[in-house]
Amino acid sequence: MLLAEITDMHLMDGGVPAYGTIDTRAYLERAIATIAALTPQPDALLVAGDISEDGTPGSYALFREMVAPLGMPVYVIPGNHDAREPMRAAFAQDGYMPVAGPLDYAVDLGALTLVALDTLEEGEPYGTFSAGQCDWLGGTLATLSGKPAIVMLHHPPFPTGAKMDEIGCRDGDAIGAVIAEFNNVEIVLAGHFHRSMHRSWAGTMANICSSTAHQIGLDLAHRPGFKVFMEPPQIQLLHWQDGAGLSVHQVPVGAFECVHESG
Ligand SMILES: [Fe+2]
Repeated sequence: MLLAEITDMHLMDGGVPAYGTIDTRAYLERAIATIAALTPQPDALLVAGDISEDGTPGSYALFREMVAPLGMPVYVIPGNHDAREPMRAAFAQDGYMPVAGPLDYAVDLGALTLVALDTLEEGEPYGTFSAGQCDWLGGTLATLSGKPAIVMLHHPPFPTGAKMDEIGCRDGDAIGAVIAEFNNVEIVLAGHFHRSMHRSWAGTMANICSSTAHQIGLDLAHRPGFKVFMEPPQIQLLHWQDGAGLSVHQVPVGAFECVHESG
């Protein structure tokens, strides 16, 4: 089983540039082209939030239109720039989202179950996850009876060591306490950080995927403000092999020249 993952597309209504300068639509087009060129093709596309910059129905419609040619199931969660109800309305037709409440859901993908968590606290850059949602997470993981699962959420519930921790998930410790009770969570996937990173956490792997567009400069000194850089975007591939488990590959967005070939 092969799953592609993208995050933090920050599309605007009508595809206009975000912040007046970043052509997030063009950047997403390149990420989609990178996925479309893969062999074999992924079985599904996971999207870890901030689909939209402005939370508009038009931005979600544009996203759906852009990913449709990939011809694969697409699973989304909200980020801090998303708006819950417009997002629910835009993706309701796909049948995996709850009709009310937080956009938490689980989907059986075959060898793996995707457990998606809604950490959006509308109007705030940080994320939250309620005690009721923690109960749902624990109950959902328990029903899997040891079957491998991937947990996906937007706000990192784990420390990154960088300034971004100031706007991470405020209930991360509670999420970690639930996940640590189970040995079938293969990885925790987050977005929000706008750069790639990996760490161990709650007895499993934890990982953040790059944005498809702009990246936030690495600041381990916690200086004031955030600086945005157009560092090379990446997508992620999650490769599950029966008997060998999960591997994660970072793939730079773009088409690159092959300068040597042997064999
Ligand atoms: Fe973002």
